[in-house]
Amino acid sequence: MLIGIPKEIKDHEYRVGATPAGVRELVNAGHKVIVQKDAGSAIDFSDSQYVAAGAKIVATAADVYEKAEMILKVKEPQKAECKMIRKGQVIFSYLHLAAEPELTKLLIKSGAIAIAFETVSANDGSLPLLAPMSEVAGKLSIQAGAKALEKSQGGRGVLLGGVPGVNRSKVTVLGGGVSGTNAAKVAVGMGADVTILDKSLPRIRYLCDIFGNTANVIYASLENIEKNVVESDLVVGAVLIPGAAAPKLITKQMVKKMKKGSVMVDISIDQGGCFETSKPTSHSNPTYVTDGVVHYCVTNMPGAVARTSTQALENSTLPFTLALANKGYRRALLDDKNLRNGLNVIDGKVTYKAVSEALGHKFVEAEKVL
Ligand SMILES: NC(=O)c1ccc[n+]([C@@H]2O[C@H](COP(=O)([O-])OP(=O)(O)OC[C@H]3O[C@@H](n4cnc5c(N)ncnc54)[C@H](O)[C@@H]3O)[C@@H](O)[C@H]2O)c1
Repeated sequence: MLIGIPKEIKDHEYRVGATPAGVRELVNAGHKVIVQKDAGSAIDFSDSQYVAAGAKIVATAADVYEKAEMILKVKEPQKAECKMIRKGQVIFSYLHLAAEPELTKLLIKSGAIAIAFETVSANDGSLPLLAPMSEVAGKLSIQAGAKALEKSQGGRGVLLGGVPGVNRSKVTVLGGGVSGTNAAKVAVGMGADVTILDKSLPRIRYLCDIFGNTANVIYASLENIEKNVVESDLVVGAVLIPGAAAPKLITKQMVKKMKKGSVMVDISIDQGGCFETSKPTSHSNPTYVTDGVVHYCVTNMPGAVARTSTQALENSTLPFTLALANKGYRRALLDDKNLRNGLNVIDGKVTYKAVSEALGHKFVEAEKVL
């Protein structure tokens, strides 16, 4: 198959659909890869590295879209890109169509086969192509929180791990899923006094097993949330109720009771945020202060570490990319129900229920179209 990697054009998006290492895997499996000039240069994946891995460099996005049978990218196609998508072309990317009525219409019109990273599933119902970005956001939340705690950044002027003779800082993580667990791991590693709260008892048992005595894992009752939050130097919000807005676990009243200069990082902000005082921020202006508490609510945290994020994403997308390329999209989708769950639009029909319901399009079962 001929696979095309365009340069991402969404504002401040530096990730890329494949690394040179990923291209090497695809070429090794017998496929041809074309990469748009400078597609990865912002994160130090040079054109010469792609060529060494077996790719051909093409000058423009139009060249990629005109020739490739499958487009492998990161962010949902932008308007200018949609114009270039061809009938019968496979688009494998994050799409987030339920929130994108215009894009959905354009993909329907294009006649392309649009497979969304975020709805590809695993046998246990989890979403394996979302997990790597939650891992990144979780680890980054402590890095960002520790920085924001510095006095010059508006914080309390405390060091997470303390030093000999001085208390370590208290970190509370709300939600011990993928991002929360990664946040807690970093906070523990930095020597902080860490508490994780979750509502799921099986998850609490699992967290107790993996953290042992290095973190306090407790049930997320109102009482426990309030007590821990008001005592904390750093609070990380990492809850998720799949498909729903994040529950507002920390109220305005609780924020008022927090220590001045403490920091809150709301990873769940992309689902509306789990603190009542959260509002979305960006990498260029990541924090603001409410009631003396520094808030960090960046909606696309992984973009800050685009090189790591690209590599992490590729580790999970590559097996699916290879299946699509090796078998052709039809066979690959028929053979694997988890990959089939990624199919959102094909031949002008919407095959993902949540998208059809959210946007009022007719739902057609993927098996029927394939
Ligand atoms: N801001 C960003 O850049 C960014 C990046 C990646 C992920 N995210 C977001 O981070 C959030 C968390 O993602 P995840 O992959 O870690 O989710 P996850 O499903 O792995 O974990 C969520 C956890 O929250 C717990 N939970 C649910 N309701 C709760 C409640 N009321 N009280 C306490 N715990 C509760 C669940 O039991 C689960 O353990 C999602 O909204 C995701 O979209 C944001």
